[in-house]
Amino acid sequence: MTAHHRAPVTVIGLGAMGSALTRALVAAGHPTTVWHRLPGPVDEPVATGAVHAATLVEAVSASPLVVVCVMDHRAMREIVNSLGDAPADRVVVNLTPGSAEEARQTAEWVAARGVAYLDGALLTPPAEVGGEQALAFYAGPKQVYREHEATLAALGGSATYLGEDVGLPALYEVALCGVLWSAWAGLLHALALVSAERVATADFLPHATRWLEQVVAPCVPGLTADVERRDYPGTTLGREAVAIERLVAASRARGVDEGLPGYLLARTEQAIRHGHAGDGFASLIEVLRSPAAE
Ligand SMILES: NC(=O)c1ccc[n+]([C@@H]2O[C@H](COP(=O)([O-])OP(=O)(O)OC[C@H]3O[C@@H](n4cnc5c(N)ncnc54)[C@H](OP(=O)(O)O)[C@@H]3O)[C@@H](O)[C@H]2O)c1
Repeated sequence: MTAHHRAPVTVIGLGAMGSALTRALVAAGHPTTVWHRLPGPVDEPVATGAVHAATLVEAVSASPLVVVCVMDHRAMREIVNSLGDAPADRVVVNLTPGSAEEARQTAEWVAARGVAYLDGALLTPPAEVGGEQALAFYAGPKQVYREHEATLAALGGSATYLGEDVGLPALYEVALCGVLWSAWAGLLHALALVSAERVATADFLPHATRWLEQVVAPCVPGLTADVERRDYPGTTLGREAVAIERLVAASRARGVDEGLPGYLLARTEQAIRHGHAGDGFASLIEVLRSPAAE
């Protein structure tokens, strides 16, 4: 498709993310109309080639595809409530972050107004929107997604369609953020430990990086396969518990917070009580799924 034939798109909300979305769409050659609640941030998108619509209804009328990225789902609903006599044959792509439950409720709310709805999650900072590293998830009616897939590709290099359940992008997002925070917290705990012995964090850094790349990341497919099969080979939890106890003790000895390894030890011991002493680390999933079962 040549730039002359790129589909028109409207972007609602010109915060940091909305502005980045606009830049990416304009750069990809899409005729882009923008609307923002307050007059402030329209100059930059207009300077890059976007058209500023004076009203929300005008903005929605300008393009069949309307991308919304605002503060939260409440703001999103206020916008949908204000659509007035804008044409109903629009597709709204909601990139506003929220929970899976909010996404499902918003989808119903939007559908009640006769507007098609796709939900999406962009796991990327504004500066990387449109780039190869951008990670994007979408869900909603398959045919609607396929119709607009090429346009949405302008927002992120790696987009995945997750199916009809519009709650899934938010669920993927929060689950992946959980992986990120747990990994980061583990690293920070390690840095606290070694720096307590005056080890320069820069000296530790190459080893932490190698550990993450060569040991931690390569285990992800195997752990996931174990969870899928509910069969947990590998170093046994009994042995892991002894090693985790050493981490708790090392933290305590240096006055470093032992909450993180302490939590791991508690769950490992719980899994052992549940009969997983001879199973591998992935068997922790059993107590994570049923934490109340002592
Ligand atoms: N920035 C990041 O790095 C990043 C990365 C990923 C996800 N996110 C998330 O993406 C969302 C947007 O991020 P952002 O950085 O663009 O936030 P932002 O710069 O604070 O912008 C929020 C936008 O929401 C609009 N808004 C709020 N309430 C509204 C309402 N009732 N009606 C219409 N518009 C309304 C604001 O308009 P007004 O100016 O008129 O209030 C503004 O355009 C946030 O939930 C944020 O947490 C941000």
